[in-house]
Amino acid sequence: MLVAESLTKHYGALTAPRDVSFQARPGEVLGLLGPNGSGKSTTVKILTGLLHPSAGDVTVNGTDIFADLPKYKAKIGYVPEEPHLYSYLTGPEYLRLVGRLRNIDEGALNAKIDRFLQLLDIYDDRYQTLSSYSKGTRQKILISAAVLHNPQVVVLDEPFSGLDVSAARILKAFVKALADEGKIVVFSSHVLEVVEQVCSRVVILKDGVVVGHDSVPQLRSTLQLPSLDAVFASLVREENVTGCARGLVEVMGS
Ligand SMILES: Nc1ncnc2c1ncn2[C@@H]1O[C@H](COP(=O)(O)OP(=O)(O)OP(=O)(O)O)[C@@H](O)[C@H]1O
Ligand SMILES: [Mg+2]
Repeated sequence: MLVAESLTKHYGALTAPRDVSFQARPGEVLGLLGPNGSGKSTTVKILTGLLHPSAGDVTVNGTDIFADLPKYKAKIGYVPEEPHLYSYLTGPEYLRLVGRLRNIDEGALNAKIDRFLQLLDIYDDRYQTLSSYSKGTRQKILISAAVLHNPQVVVLDEPFSGLDVSAARILKAFVKALADEGKIVVFSSHVLEVVEQVCSRVVILKDGVVVGHDSVPQLRSTLQLPSLDAVFASLVREENVTGCARGLVEVMGS
């Protein structure tokens, strides 16, 4: 079980997240949902051990992740929001690099990579460089890189943004399958439909603070709203979307 307790991060005068607590159990997908700047990526980076919180802590199975960070990092897979890819490598070369850094046995690694590429239907792209890949193919490589070493905890930051329906369907099913395997899965997203389809529970952040935290059906029924979109709108969206759009069009024509 992953437990985040009172996570707080100060960026100068700004604080996001602020006193954020949640738990993610093996076998479930926990969604972090919130508008831009609500603190999703900061929370995710703290969960991966990349960023120290100003206050609060994260434990996995009762052990503080910062107590033995190299050991924790061996157990975690992470898909960053803005990855730094070696764009001149091919997909398999990149996966081999990551696999070697993860100390995966060379023979097993090559076989694993071939199977991943075949299953994700990107085997034919194996001689192309990452820079030439479509967004969906790149994301398939990134998610593969995050899980090659069979981590216990998988953390994904906006993993489906910009993907077409086919790539998103495959990767959504894969995230669910990871949870079915007993992994702890946490992912952040703006995409409400995806959160609704994939997550067992959702933490809704606004301005760094938790404004909703429950199972998707429970959130809906507590607020007596039919969909997560309506829940989200009631909790976080206060701007007048139509007014904003009209205003922009007016300014364009002015
Ligand atoms: N390195 C940093 N230095 C200063 N402020 C930061 C830094 N990283 C994040 N912030 C600020 O902290 C707040 C939370 O940012 P964060 O990236 O966690 O939000 P987010 O929910 O992931 O947003 P988005 O949906 O745009 O990805 C924002 O106001 C952001 O500007
Ligand atoms: Mg973010």
